[in-house]
Amino acid sequence: MTDAGKTADDLAALLDVAVTVAERAAALVRARRPTGRVDVATTKSSPTDAVTEVDTASEALIRGLLGQVRPQDGIVGEEGADHRGTTGVDWVVDPIDGTVNFMYGVPVYAVSIAAVRAGRTLAGVVLNVPTGERFSAVLGGGAWVTQAAGYPVRLTVPAGPPLARALVATGFGYDADRRRAQGAAVATLLPQVRDIRRLGSAALDLCSLAAGRYDAYVEQGLKPWDLAAGGLVVTEAGARLGGHAGGPAGERLVVAAGPELFDEFAALVASCGF
Ligand code: IPD
Ligand code: CA
Repeated sequence: MTDAGKTADDLAALLDVAVTVAERAAALVRARRPTGRVDVATTKSSPTDAVTEVDTASEALIRGLLGQVRPQDGIVGEEGADHRGTTGVDWVVDPIDGTVNFMYGVPVYAVSIAAVRAGRTLAGVVLNVPTGERFSAVLGGGAWVTQAAGYPVRLTVPAGPPLARALVATGFGYDADRRRAQGAAVATLLPQVRDIRRLGSAALDLCSLAAGRYDAYVEQGLKPWDLAAGGLVVTEAGARLGGHAGGPAGERLVVAAGPELFDEFAALVASCGF
C-alpha cells in the first residue's frame, strides 16, 4: 500500500480511467470547435471569465462517463458538476483549461482530470486538445508525456539555469483587482529573470515546466481543477511545488521550480509581492 492508501494497481486503474475519459472529452472538444471564433455562452466570476457551450458539454460527458465506471466516487467540476461520493476518491475536472485560448483558436487548451483523496492527487492527466500531447502521472510512479500516436516518455525536470536566466511562466485571474496586483508583482519580477510567458492554461503551464520548457512557474488564484492534475505531473517529474509563506500550493499562491531553483525563486516571488 502507498501512504495515500492505494496500491500501485489501484493507482494505475485510476489513471486508466482518467486517460480514457480525457481522450473522449478531447475528441468532443475537437469535434465541436467551429472554425473562427467561438461564442461565449455565459460568464462566471467576471465579464472576462467565459464559459462556452463546449465547456459545458465536455464536463457533462466527463461526468456521465465517470458516473458509469466509478459511480461511488465524488466529482468536482469547474462548470458545476459536483457530486458527493462515498469512496473518499473525488474526480477533479477541468473540461477545458484555457477556455479563452479555445475561444480564439490559440492551440493551447486542455482537458484536465485528476483523482484526489484526502487532498492528495493520486493520478492525473492533462491532454492538450489541439496537439494531442498527453501528460500523465500517478503518485510515486513518475510523470510521462505521450505525443499523439507516440510512446510514453518519462519526464524529469532538468537542472535550471541561475535565477537571473530563468524562463518563468505565469497567469492572471479574472478578477480586475487581483489582476492589477498580479500585474504589479510581475512587473517587479520581470527585470530579475530571463523572461515571462503567459500561455493561458495553468494545467499546461505546470506540465510544460515538467517537460523543461520553463524553469519556474508562479500564479495566484488557481482553483483545484487548474492545479490537481498538473501539480502531480510537475512534482512527479521532480520539481517542487509550494504556496504562500512556505505552505502548500493553493488558491493564495502556487510556486513551482526544479529543486535547485525553488527556494531562491520562492523568495524572489515573495519579495515581488505575490
Ligand atoms: C484559467 C487558465 C489560465 C489561468 C487562470 C485559469 P480556464 O483556466 O488556467 O491560464 O491563468 O487562472 O482560471 O478558465 O481557462 O479554465
Ligand atoms: Ca476551464
